[in-house]
Amino acid sequence: MSRREPVAVLISGRGSNMTALAEAAAEPRHPAEIVLVLANDPAAEGLARARAMGLATAAVDHRAFPGDKAGFEAAMDEALRAAGAETLCLAGFMRVLSGAFVARWADRILNIHPSLLPAFPGLDTHARALAAGVKLHGATVHLVREAVDDGPILAQAALAVRPSDTAESLADRVLALEHRLYPAALARRLRGEAGWTAAESALINPDIA
Ligand code: GRF
Repeated sequence: MSRREPVAVLISGRGSNMTALAEAAAEPRHPAEIVLVLANDPAAEGLARARAMGLATAAVDHRAFPGDKAGFEAAMDEALRAAGAETLCLAGFMRVLSGAFVARWADRILNIHPSLLPAFPGLDTHARALAAGVKLHGATVHLVREAVDDGPILAQAALAVRPSDTAESLADRVLALEHRLYPAALARRLRGEAGWTAAESALINPDIA
């Protein structure tokens, strides 16, 4: 069997994308092996989910490093390297990483964001998309750069906004897309395959029209 890339998933909360990544990586043909689930909050619900799946977990509580982001990131770095991680997937990880940390893991940090970037970086993406009246909405997997929710786009999946949509219904429907998009985008990236196409986005959501 070919080598599988050791991947750590970084979370802050419920961890549904982490679960989707771990389930996909459990398939022998997926090129990732999840070697660590790391949270910045020891109470993150996703840590319990990860443990229940038999995954290695760690918590590096950012509150233990007041005013010392470098110290917090050094502790994370140590845990990640001890686990042998070579690629990082941010999955609802709510701390902003420094330029120094991003540079140390250059081009090896992926993030998933619940909008069609570059539209709606930041928080409350679904309410903002509705308020703006967009007709298409979705999710993006991108490489992480120092600026938040910025960086080369690897893959996107879109859905058509319905007149009846609320921020909650959009969040649910986009999250279901995220769970399919992130493992597929990670696999592509690790296999070194070239660009994601609109047709591939349509495979993630054939109901786009
Ligand atoms: C997802 O919507 C993800 O796109 C965003 O944060 C949310 C995390 O949800 N970055 P979960 O913890 O993966 O369930």
